[in-house]
Amino acid sequence: MTEAMTAPPLPDRATLTRLTEPQPLRDALADAVQRGLTGPDKWLEPIFFYDARGSELFDRITELDEYYLTRTEASILARHGDALVAAVGPDELVEIGSGSSSKTPVLLDALRASGGTCYVPLDISESALVEAAERLTTERDWLTVEAYVADFHRDLAAVPRNGRRVVAFLGSTLGNLVPHERKGLLADIRTMLAPGDGFLLGVDLVKGEDVLLPAYDDAQGVTAEFNRNVLHVINRELDGDLPVDAFEHRVGWNHDLECVDLELVATRDIAARLRAIDLDLSFESGESILTEHSCKFRLPDLTQELAQAGLCAAQIATDPEERFAVVLALPADLA
Ligand code: SAH
Ligand code: AVI
Repeated sequence: MTEAMTAPPLPDRATLTRLTEPQPLRDALADAVQRGLTGPDKWLEPIFFYDARGSELFDRITELDEYYLTRTEASILARHGDALVAAVGPDELVEIGSGSSSKTPVLLDALRASGGTCYVPLDISESALVEAAERLTTERDWLTVEAYVADFHRDLAAVPRNGRRVVAFLGSTLGNLVPHERKGLLADIRTMLAPGDGFLLGVDLVKGEDVLLPAYDDAQGVTAEFNRNVLHVINRELDGDLPVDAFEHRVGWNHDLECVDLELVATRDIAARLRAIDLDLSFESGESILTEHSCKFRLPDLTQELAQAGLCAAQIATDPEERFAVVLALPADLA
């Protein structure tokens, strides 16, 4: 693991520690491009969407009419968040993939009611962490923020504990992982938990394609921009000349994995070069890059996945239409 370093300057009561450094992230991108863009089946990992612009575009997605996920989860948290947190009574709230922490305030209020004062956001996007830390500490004079720039696939064990914790993983980001990746991540999350701690998980539920597909193919084209942003990231980080506008955003329902798949489709034959790694890429017209799975969940299956990781779903809250669920899971023996 990369050695932890503390980065400069943030408001009082906030620290930012880098568990993942920019250069290893660039190396990981180079590796992902070698593995994912040079064979016949082309794919990229969604972690690379989230540079500063990608984080901004995601925030715009969360406000779109079609993207029901964020407002639905926020409504569940507004109604049940305080009771879910109070059931644990934590000293700290750790949030994995916290992004702009837009839904966190209700959980922070509940943290305070339990006598807790420490918020620990963890994200790969440093810009999102800095903005959130500034905003949250300015608004709350009782709060300390310990932010971590970290990859949740590798760095969770390195996050120090400040007493009893609730670990939150909201927004259905778990759905961006396929089952074997989820198994690994849930096992890592389980190791973050001691008896008495809790895990608060937000997931999007399976529903009709008439609702699901527009959520990932909005009329304003924000999701298309978000999707294509990964090509800008590659060009910038690896000194490339991929013609971003020659790729089209496409979404489809994947029946096998029960997920929405995001792809970028070459609209013509393309030859590109990534000078930083001395790599030539080629795409035939119509060839696609799979950029994201967004898996949707069925509660009985999810409960089982959690149990297999040693997590017992103790409380489940949903919205009236059962579009989205927030689950409080407690550490249990492995199933
Ligand atoms: N939780 C927020 C943001 C969801 S967007 C919400 O519900 O609105 C997904 C977030 O996960 C982004 O902020 C992104 O930067 C972060 N992320 C994606 N992959 C990650 C990884 N491997 N490690 C850490 N953070 C990651
Ligand atoms: C972060 N994640 C849960 C989003 C999702 O819904 O899968 C990412 C996203 N991709 C396109 N729109 C939103």
